[in-house]
Amino acid sequence: MKKIHVAASRPYDVVLEAGCLEKAADYIAPYSENRYAAIVTDDTVDALYGTALTAHLTEAGIRTVKFVLPHGESSKNAENYVALLEFLAENHLTRSDLIIALGGGVVGDLAGFAAATFLRGVDFVQIPTTLLAMVDSSVGGKTAIDLRAGKNLAGAFYQPKTVLCDPLVLKTLPDATFADGCAEVIKYGVLGSASLFAHLKENGLLFDRVQVIAECIEMKSRIVNEDEFDTGLRQLLNFGHTFGHAIEKNSHFALSHGSAVAIGMVIMAKSAAEAGLCDGAVAAEIEQVCTAFGLPTKTEYAPQTLYDAMLSDKKRKGNTVTLVVPETIGKCVLYPLPVPDLLPFLKKGME
Ligand code: NAD
Ligand code: GLY
Repeated sequence: MKKIHVAASRPYDVVLEAGCLEKAADYIAPYSENRYAAIVTDDTVDALYGTALTAHLTEAGIRTVKFVLPHGESSKNAENYVALLEFLAENHLTRSDLIIALGGGVVGDLAGFAAATFLRGVDFVQIPTTLLAMVDSSVGGKTAIDLRAGKNLAGAFYQPKTVLCDPLVLKTLPDATFADGCAEVIKYGVLGSASLFAHLKENGLLFDRVQVIAECIEMKSRIVNEDEFDTGLRQLLNFGHTFGHAIEKNSHFALSHGSAVAIGMVIMAKSAAEAGLCDGAVAAEIEQVCTAFGLPTKTEYAPQTLYDAMLSDKKRKGNTVTLVVPETIGKCVLYPLPVPDLLPFLKKGME
């Protein structure tokens, strides 16, 4: 068992332990004063792990109610968010009760936003069940829903009380969903660890899961500890996301987040190389590793289409958008660009 401390404004531990889902009640009990919790999950995860979690909690004397979303990004919307708030109210959840997010990033983001806002804040626990959610979305307190205009446009910074990562649940993940998580893992390698990137390159899908998940959470924790509210350093975690979100939005979320991020990382690296900000070999290596993990690296959308989508990206500040540019494998830098320069920059990476 490994515990990684996140020293945010509301500090907490991330528990990484094979089998911790079955012991969830032990970890959750300290945060469940009233022994009453609302589990939020999606239909796929519910069928796999929802019943077992409910049973463990009931056995431990924690009463539960459950809100089940249809699986997929299109559920991360305002309608489901309000439906969840109404459900919590109808079930008389109080400020001393608990919300448990059991699922991938979609469930975690939506349940976290509901926890941040219901009764002006109810404690919540993240139990991530995808690789992406373990290494990224469950840690750091970003919660959100999508609006019609774009990804994650309504949300809050709201830290969980604890995060329980059970790597055993990854065995039921479809290959493509596992690959999505690998895109975020590759991102960590490019932005902060040449040795992690080298391990991925050498081992491909046979990488050391527990070690790699721990390394990603530790890196994210270090970044969040320094810049919880995303005013500087934390923006590095957006490597591949500015172009990625635009691609994801244009596909109406038919393309998964991880796949879109992989394409976004490759385009960004190619554009940076063309602009003389990094060596062409950096872009080639990122493309090669993404391909080895079964991730897409190209999009059919035109640069103008992506540019239009990026105008409603929340990372835009006035007339500037801050890009995350790889200098070498293991080091990225923030690169503010005036919005009018974005289209020519993007075109260079897509030629
Ligand atoms: P997801 O939550 O949609 O899960 C992907 C699919 O896997 C779903 O169909 C789900 O039902 C299924 N699934 C989940 N766990 C499973 C398991 N153990 N076995 C079998 N199937 C399982 O997607 P995701 O990739 O986990 O997360 C993507 C979301 O995370 C996006 O909305 C993205 O914006 C968000 N995100 C947030 C942050 C953050 O900091 N908050 C960071 C990165 C990504
Ligand atoms: N995944 C981006 C962040 O947590 O900042």
